Amino acid sequence: MKILVIGSGGREHALAWKLRQSPLAGRIFCAPGNAGTGEIAENVAIAASDLDALVRFAKENRVYLTVVGPDDPLAAGIVDLFAAEKLRAFGPTKSAARIESSKIFAKELMRAQKIPTAEAKTFSDSGEALRYCERVKFPVVIKADGLALGKGVTIAADAAMAQSTIDEMMNQRRFGDAGRRIVIEEFLRGTECSLHALVDGTNYLLLDSARDHKRALDGDQGPNTGGMGAFSPANNWNSKLQSQFEAEIMQPFLRGLLQQRVEFRGLLYPGLIITTDGARVLEFNCRFGDPETQALLPRMKSDLLPLLGATIDGTIDQCAIEWDTRAAVTVVLTSAGYPGKYETGKPISGLDDAAKLEDVRIFHAGTKRDDGEIKTAGGRVLAVTALGSTIETARARAYEAVSRIHFENCHYRRDIALSAVAANIDQLP
Ligand code: AMP
Ligand code: GLY
Repeated sequence: MKILVIGSGGREHALAWKLRQSPLAGRIFCAPGNAGTGEIAENVAIAASDLDALVRFAKENRVYLTVVGPDDPLAAGIVDLFAAEKLRAFGPTKSAARIESSKIFAKELMRAQKIPTAEAKTFSDSGEALRYCERVKFPVVIKADGLALGKGVTIAADAAMAQSTIDEMMNQRRFGDAGRRIVIEEFLRGTECSLHALVDGTNYLLLDSARDHKRALDGDQGPNTGGMGAFSPANNWNSKLQSQFEAEIMQPFLRGLLQQRVEFRGLLYPGLIITTDGARVLEFNCRFGDPETQALLPRMKSDLLPLLGATIDGTIDQCAIEWDTRAAVTVVLTSAGYPGKYETGKPISGLDDAAKLEDVRIFHAGTKRDDGEIKTAGGRVLAVTALGSTIETARARAYEAVSRIHFENCHYRRDIALSAVAANIDQLP
C-alpha cells in the first residue's frame, strides 16, 4: 500500500523509517521531506501547509494512508479535507485538534472533567489581564491561546515581565491572532514526562513513556525550543503514576470530548508535569512529539502501520505494542543560534561514519541534498538516537555517534538523559 508522510522534521523521518520496515508498506512519499527521508522514501515538493495540493497528490497517486506529522495542517483541517475525498489520513479532525490549537479549549475541557492541571484564568482583554497580575503570586505562566511555533509560553518571574508579555501578545500581536486571547496559570514545580496514546475515538493504547529536553542549553538554561533531545523510557514514570494518569486524565479526556460530540482519532500526546501530588497536564498535543518519536520508534518492535490503521478504524482495543526493553537516547544537533536566527547551507560530514556504530539511528530534520552533498537547512538539523541495555550505554553510544558528525556552527546539549544516569552535571561528556 502507498503511504504519504506529511512534514519534514526528524519525527517524520522516524515515522517514514519505521513504516518502511512494514511488510505491508509499498511506496512511501514524504511531503516535503528532507535529505534523510529522500534516502528511504520519495520526497515530493509540496509544503505541509499546501493542503489542496496534498489532497490532489494523494488522490492522483492513490495513496492508501496519509500520516500527518506536524500540528499546523491538523489545526487547519487537513484530515477533514482528506475524509471529504474518502482518503484515509491519520490524525484528528480540525475540531478534535483544538485540544492543541486552543489552550483555552483544552483548559475548559480539563476544568469540566476535573483533569488535574494548573489553576488558570483566561483573558480576552489586556487591561483585565494586567490588573489580574497585580494580585498574583509570581512566577506565573502566560500562554497565547493559539499555535505560536512553540514560542507562545512565557514564564513571568515578576510583574514587569508579565506586563511586557501581555502587551506583546495581546496588544502588539507578536503571534498574530494566536495571542488575541491568553491563559495565565499557576507555575507548577516538578519534572516533565511525555506520554503518547493512539486514540481511536473510544479506546486508546499507550506507548511507552519518554522525556524531552525543551531548553536550548545544558542544565535547562536558555530559551525553550522544539526539543533538544529525548530518552525513553522516562525515569520519572511508574505504574502508580500510570494508573492515576489513565483514571484521572485519559478517561476523563475521552469522556469530555464525547460529551461535546467530538471524536478524537489519532495520536494524543499529553505533556505532563510530575508534582508531589501526582501527574498534572501542562498541555495536550494532537500529534507525535518531536524528538520523542525519534527515541520511541527505535524501541517499538511491533509494526506501526497496522496500529495506525486500527486507530483510524476504531479497533485499537484489539492491538498491543511490543517494546524493546533497552533504553533509547536521542541527541538533537542544531544550527548555532536556534531557536533564534541561524545560518543554513553548511555541509555535513561524518554521517556514514556515525551510522556505522551499532544500534545507532540518524534521523534528519533540517537537511537537504545539494550538489551531491548533504547540507544544513534548518534550526534542528539531526536527531541521533542510540539504543543500549542501560541508559548509560545508550547515552555513551549516542554521544559517540554525535562526535563523528561535523558541520560549521553545530550545537547540541551535553546533558541529554544525564538526569537518568545521575543528578550530577559534572559528568558532561
Ligand atoms: P506548553 O507548550 O504549554 O507545554 O509549555 C511549554 C513549556 O513551558 C512546558 O514544557 C513547561 O516546561 C513550561 N510550562 C508550561 N506550563 C507550565 C506551568 N503551569 N508550570 C510550569 N511550567 C510550565
Ligand atoms: N517535544 C515537544 C513537542 O513535540 O511538542
